[in-house]
Amino acid sequence: MVKISVTDLEGQTSTIEAEVGLSLMENIRNNDFDDMAAVCGGCCSCCTCHVFIEEEQCSKLPEMEDDEQYLLEDSEHFQSGSSRLSCQVEVDDSMDGLKVTLAPED
Ligand code: FES
Repeated sequence: MVKISVTDLEGQTSTIEAEVGLSLMENIRNNDFDDMAAVCGGCCSCCTCHVFIEEEQCSKLPEMEDDEQYLLEDSEHFQSGSSRLSCQVEVDDSMDGLKVTLAPED
């Protein structure tokens, strides 16, 4: 388990105990964040699991694949250097202390 700070669309921040090996999206959903639709269930085809991650922390995450990049760049809320699709980020032990903010829906 690693601690991850999640801020919802109303600006409320909670710390969750995230399970290593699950995606960031699965961990957020498992902790009852209703703001995250995650419509495609993690197939990298909907962009409704979009999150912002602090830039310094984001730069240390595994690089995104082209599919993720294309979807994010189509989002009107895309922020270079901090946007990620949370279903494409697998939680590992190095992510303890990660700060994540849910992105508004397009
Ligand atoms: S849940 Fe659809 S792209 Fe992540």
